[in-house]
Amino acid sequence: MAERSSTICIERGLLSRAGLVAAEKLPSRNCAIISDDIVDALYGEKLESSLKNAGFSVVRMAFAHGESSKNIETYARVINFLAENRLTRKDAVIALGGGVVGDLAGFAAATYLRGVNLVQVPTSLLACVDSSVGGKTAIDITAGKNLCGAFYQPDLVLIDPDMLATLPDDIFTDGMAEVIKYAAISDISILDLCRNARENADGIIRRCIEIKKDVVAQDERDTSIRQILNFGHTYGHAVEAVSDFAITHGKAVAIGMCIMARACAKRGFCSAECADELISAIEAQGLPTASPFAPEALFETMLSDKKRVPDGLNLVLMTGRGACEIRKTPIATAKEMLEEGCRL
Ligand SMILES: NC(=O)c1ccc[n+]([C@@H]2O[C@H](COP(=O)([O-])OP(=O)(O)OC[C@H]3O[C@@H](n4cnc5c(N)ncnc54)[C@H](O)[C@@H]3O)[C@@H](O)[C@H]2O)c1
Repeated sequence: MAERSSTICIERGLLSRAGLVAAEKLPSRNCAIISDDIVDALYGEKLESSLKNAGFSVVRMAFAHGESSKNIETYARVINFLAENRLTRKDAVIALGGGVVGDLAGFAAATYLRGVNLVQVPTSLLACVDSSVGGKTAIDITAGKNLCGAFYQPDLVLIDPDMLATLPDDIFTDGMAEVIKYAAISDISILDLCRNARENADGIIRRCIEIKKDVVAQDERDTSIRQILNFGHTYGHAVEAVSDFAITHGKAVAIGMCIMARACAKRGFCSAECADELISAIEAQGLPTASPFAPEALFETMLSDKKRVPDGLNLVLMTGRGACEIRKTPIATAKEMLEEGCRL
């Protein structure tokens, strides 16, 4: 079981009531909103007034948007900001933004004074369905993405799907790759909701979070079943890294899932129809389905995957509609599967 449990609220228009909900859950009336420049300009003031109306003293800080801010320098700025504003252990960090803000502000909350209260207010689809729930926080270091972080469950997750209205289409579509991942690992009926994804955002978010919560409750520290959430990620991370991050995470995961689905169908782990269904759903979102890179280039990068075990890789195999399985796979087999999955 997760060490601390989160209260998760999903409701259209919730942003204007965020202060009241936070006041019920948090032990003090002091907080710091951490955001990026784009999200802060859109929603920072609204969140601040909602908190103030509920009796909170609020300080607010925004850093430049984008993955390149998820680093030690920005982290240092954030924790110094918390210290300058004398936040105590009873006070709260409120992360308002996408996965970058959630990961970085979450890590700041986990480490400042050895841990203060944390509220996640995710504003991108990816953050709503994935990064705001489950307690993984991190920053990137020179050696790689997310290599410095902590498991730290938020006390409260406030999701207002209305905020997705301002999310640009390409970023929304990126988040859809993770949504399709949930369909693949657990509930194929999510694909029906994906046909009108923006309209069905509430339902999509609810279902994805249910699945994630259930998996994380069984394995918070990512040593066993939680790795199922990495379906498509081993090959996907390789695509992302070889492109030097020009291919975004969601597009790379989409490609990774297609490679895995094809390989699994060719090996008889699942039927060809099952793989085709997933690949068509990915294509229907306008996400890519094939790797622009040769398997040899991807393989080299794959060897540095965090999920690597001494004599192989923990691969998440597709075994049916809405069903996957983690299997320890020898490196040579993982390489063959990569080659099979890249062949169209
Ligand atoms: N902790 C986890 O479990 C976990 C899981 C998956 C991904 N991640 C991390 O999440 C990050 C990616 O998250 P992301 O895709 O949300 O990226 P992001 O936070 O960079 O957001 C993408 C862009 O969308 C903008 N944006 C966000 N919400 C908006 C809104 N409502 N309206 C308009 N613009 C908005 C942001 O300013 C940014 O420019 C990566 O760093 C990844 O490592 C973490």
